[in-house]
Amino acid sequence: MPNENLQTAHIATQSWDQIADLTNETIDQLGQLKHCKNIVVTGSGQGIGFAIALLAAKHGHNVVIADLNEMLAEKAAAFINSIDSPETGKATWVKMDTSKLSDHELAVEKAVQAYGNLDVYLNVAGIDQVELAGNISEEHMDRIWSVNIKGTQFGMQAAHKQFMIQRQNNPSAIYKIINTSSIASLMAFPMLAEYCMTKSAVTSLTKNFALEWATDGITVNEFNPGIVAGPMWNHIASEMAAVTDKDQDTIFNGYVNNIPVGRAQLALDVAQSVLFLISSASDYVTGNSLVTDGGVVLGSKFSHKTNFKNQLGDGHLQSFTEEITVK
Ligand SMILES: NC(=O)c1ccc[n+]([C@@H]2O[C@H](COP(=O)([O-])OP(=O)(O)OC[C@H]3O[C@@H](n4cnc5c(N)ncnc54)[C@H](O)[C@@H]3O)[C@@H](O)[C@H]2O)c1
Repeated sequence: MPNENLQTAHIATQSWDQIADLTNETIDQLGQLKHCKNIVVTGSGQGIGFAIALLAAKHGHNVVIADLNEMLAEKAAAFINSIDSPETGKATWVKMDTSKLSDHELAVEKAVQAYGNLDVYLNVAGIDQVELAGNISEEHMDRIWSVNIKGTQFGMQAAHKQFMIQRQNNPSAIYKIINTSSIASLMAFPMLAEYCMTKSAVTSLTKNFALEWATDGITVNEFNPGIVAGPMWNHIASEMAAVTDKDQDTIFNGYVNNIPVGRAQLALDVAQSVLFLISSASDYVTGNSLVTDGGVVLGSKFSHKTNFKNQLGDGHLQSFTEEITVK
């Protein structure tokens, strides 16, 4: 017997046939190829930003590689343009400093000039800051705030301005802003206090701008990567090694050993999650934090195992991460 309440719900919302029709459309949206978008990715000369730009291009989107490092930006764009496939989007590049509003305006202009309009603005550029909490200097605070917080806000403002112009001709379009936060906005890390604070600020900006711009047809979301193998963690671990009794590899492996899924995150893992936020499949998602971290924020996997074995009197596992002592 069909459930009467359910039937009523279908009449009030969508029939099965309607949903089936919409499903075909959604498959196209996820498949992307019929919905090519024009995307700016800041900080995409390397690392996570590059992986996002590359994967987006491979899904048919056109990208602007926007980076402070001109050489990396040019190389990244050339790499994408060298992919010999008619299904791959185009790439162009622009040198920009994310801490400057005028540079974000330049990146937007580059997208409009190259591709005709802008659909998605991705704020990925960011820096770390390794310092013991008691030693954080005002100069270092200003530097990381400028890049990670001001950079995110300015990117959103420059994109919003362009989206509002475009909406005059296309009032039903959905435009997207995607920011880069981190698991550092959700938990504390030794020697990364200032970095964690900037990523919490990104989360707050994401929610607040999402609320204000929801009626403008603009979604604002963020993604929160975990421990990604690459240049940023090389730098963090080497800075930590310089002031502790552990070497860089031991420090990085200590963090990786504690990731529940059992391996370090790759830039491509992050990019795959971000593809959903780029796609029209996420049109109804705004103010959201997509945590892509292999379960780091769930807690320590090894500590539970240690307790379990100890209770059974079955020897003990070595502590999941060795104590790090400041020199
Ligand atoms: N690596 C991780 O484990 C991790 C985890 C969580 C969040 N994140 C965040 O992801 C983002 C990218 O990290 P990543 O690991 O790819 O870093 P990365 O250091 O590998 O790459 C950062 C890129 O940003 C560029 N950049 C730096 N300062 C800039 C500026 N002022 N203006 C424009 N471009 C600038 C660099 O030239 C570089 O190409 C950052 O916001 C970072 O905080 C990284």
